[in-house]
Amino acid sequence: MITLDDFQAYLNADDINAAMKSACQAAIASPELMHLFMERFVKYSASYSHSVPTLCGTIGRSEQFCDPQVAIARHSNRGMDVAAKVFSASIEEFQDPRTGVSHRTLAYALLDALAAYAGLSDAAVERVMQAESWLDDMTQFVQDAYQAEPHSLEQMVRAMGFHAAAETIGGNEFSIINSIFFSGQREGDFGQFIKQHKARFAAGTVSPWYWIVIHGTSTTEGVELGHADDAIQALNLATRYSSVSEGQIVAWAGQGVRQLATIQTRFFQRVQQELREHAGLSVAA
Ligand SMILES: [Fe+2]
Ligand SMILES: [Fe+2]
Repeated sequence: MITLDDFQAYLNADDINAAMKSACQAAIASPELMHLFMERFVKYSASYSHSVPTLCGTIGRSEQFCDPQVAIARHSNRGMDVAAKVFSASIEEFQDPRTGVSHRTLAYALLDALAAYAGLSDAAVERVMQAESWLDDMTQFVQDAYQAEPHSLEQMVRAMGFHAAAETIGGNEFSIINSIFFSGQREGDFGQFIKQHKARFAAGTVSPWYWIVIHGTSTTEGVELGHADDAIQALNLATRYSSVSEGQIVAWAGQGVRQLATIQTRFFQRVQQELREHAGLSVAA
């Protein structure tokens, strides 16, 4: 059976965590930098959210996943069952059960709060968004990593490996953001500001910080844990419903795990560089 341990050799979690921590620490230097960091992070994260279902569609359409035990070979396609284990990560992403809105809408509520905390108008936020020219390449990388041809088992499994790594590292990134942004500043101005504000939706009212905590913190198990388990289960089903060995599936998926490690490290290092440049400009001004 494939487990997360099979992918240790494909990524260095300590290095990725260190890049994430270091960027978050740079971000809490001022309300403007916190807002800037989170605008970039929300846009980067969004590229994952809308890409997952495209991979599910590809797997569902494929004829590569078949149950060898069925009596009638023409009735053996199990692509949708494999896809379901990837799709589980998307369900709440499109509609959070407590608020009835998508995770993206929840993320915008947090950005609204951070803009208010930094005293930024719509025009000022627009300038922050216009100032960025490096993120499109990275969101494109993520979208491409979720792409596969339905006739290529190798490509689909590689994309499933990327997804599995995104869901495991995903829990870490939210837990790191939570501990540095919120837990570390709980009693300070930012903690108080968050506690005093609410994000209101037709189905429920939550903290603006809700989008972060639902993904998991160091003390709570968020949605990412279930997504990660299911993503690994998808790889086990891929082994069961294809004629290649488990070792081959791990090797193909490992390529996707390595891609995730690359883009994740690159994103956090690049956003930290932008934070540094921005802080330098503010000092100079
Ligand atoms: Fe999410
Ligand atoms: Fe997830």
